[in-house]
This record gives sequence, C-alpha cells and structure tokens, in this order.
Amino acid sequence: MSLFISFEGPDGSGKTTQILLLRAALEERGLHVLATREPGGTRIGNAVRTLVLSPEYAEMSQRTEALLYVAARAQIVYEVILPALAEGAVVLCDRYGDSTLAYQGYGHALPLDDLRAMNAFATGGLQPDMTLYLDINVAAGLSRIPASEHDRLEANTLAFHEAVRAGYHVLAQADPVRWLILDGAQPIATLHTQILARVLQALAAHA
Ligand code: TYD
Repeated sequence: MSLFISFEGPDGSGKTTQILLLRAALEERGLHVLATREPGGTRIGNAVRTLVLSPEYAEMSQRTEALLYVAARAQIVYEVILPALAEGAVVLCDRYGDSTLAYQGYGHALPLDDLRAMNAFATGGLQPDMTLYLDINVAAGLSRIPASEHDRLEANTLAFHEAVRAGYHVLAQADPVRWLILDGAQPIATLHTQILARVLQALAAHA
C-alpha cells in the first residue's frame, strides 16, 4: 500500500539519519520503500543540485534558484515518486515543496502564492500524505554540519535560517493533519521510535 512521506526541517535537523533508520525499519517489516531526496534523486535533479548548491555560481538570483528547485521537483515527481507510488511503495522524500515555501518564501521573501503555484505546476498537485517536520534550534542545527560541508546555501545568515524555521512553524500550524512536528534535538533513537510509531499508525489507517 502506497504512502508518500516528506521530511522537512532546518539544515542539520537530522532528516537524512532518520530517513535511513525509518527505511530499514519499514523494510524489516516487508514493506517496499523508496527513499529519495531533493534537490537530487534523478540525473537531472543531481545536475540542478550541483548548480544551486555550488559556491561556483554565486551570481545566481533568488528567482533562478527557486525555479531550479521546482524544476528538479517536477523531474523527481514524474520520474521517481509517481511510479513508486503506483507500485505500492512507501516513498520517503528528504525535502519537498515545503522546502521551497520555507527557504525561498519565508527565508528569501519571494511571493508565497507564486511559489505555491510553481509547486502545483511542477508536481501536478501531488502532496505528501504526511510531512514529518524535525524542528531544531538554528545554531544547534548548523553546528551539526562540519565546516567542510558548508555549501553556498548554508553560508546564509543566521537571520535567514531563523526566518526559514519560523516559516516552517507557520506552515505546520496551518495544516496539522498533514504535518507532524517532532523535536529534532532528541537522541537519534528516541526520535526514530516516535517516527516509526506514527508512520506505522498512518500505514494502518491507510490500509
Ligand atoms: P542538503 O545538503 O540536502 O541539506 P539537508 O541535508 O539539510 O537537507 O541541501 C539542501 C539545501 O537546499 C538546504 O539548505 C535547503 C535548500 N533547499 C531550498 O532552499 N529550497 C528547496 O526547495 C529545496 C528542496 C532545498
């Protein structure tokens, strides 16, 4: 039975670690799981990832960046996510449309209505069944990322990251049915147990 789950959170919130653990736990239960990430997840998405995250393209305008994220999203939806859902997979996506609303909308102050329309166009309206938001204090999140991995976006100011986090809270509170807010500062195993319980619940409700 298919289920589409997105993971959202500020940089360093631990999404990637939790996705790996959740995937293993679901596969152990015999479920077909597809884990992917944005930007990336396809050849085209990975090319976009290099373009948007590399410090080499420092001249990139914020609107160009927004369009590229959304373009990568269109590709992953049609190439990876929809086919996997059609096969009955549980799809775990590290970031999805809400990242564009949080980072480009709340972070860079691009118009939210335009970004929503761009997301709708790119995804054909496909929304996650469930969005797991891993909340973490900005400084704590950034301190988890080794300096050698600081890409162009993580070089944004603290104020930017605070605006992103506040934006996530607005988005999550506006749709408490889809969003689940989790404390990303908890120990990895504790957080995993919480996530697994909620996902198993959602799968049972979906069955
Ligand atoms: P990544 O290294 O994947 O960070 P993380 O592991 O924390 O998810 O880098 C993704 C970066 O791209 C992250 O800083 C958020 C940013 N981003 C946007 O600004 N808009 C988007 O639509 C997406 C998908 C990502």
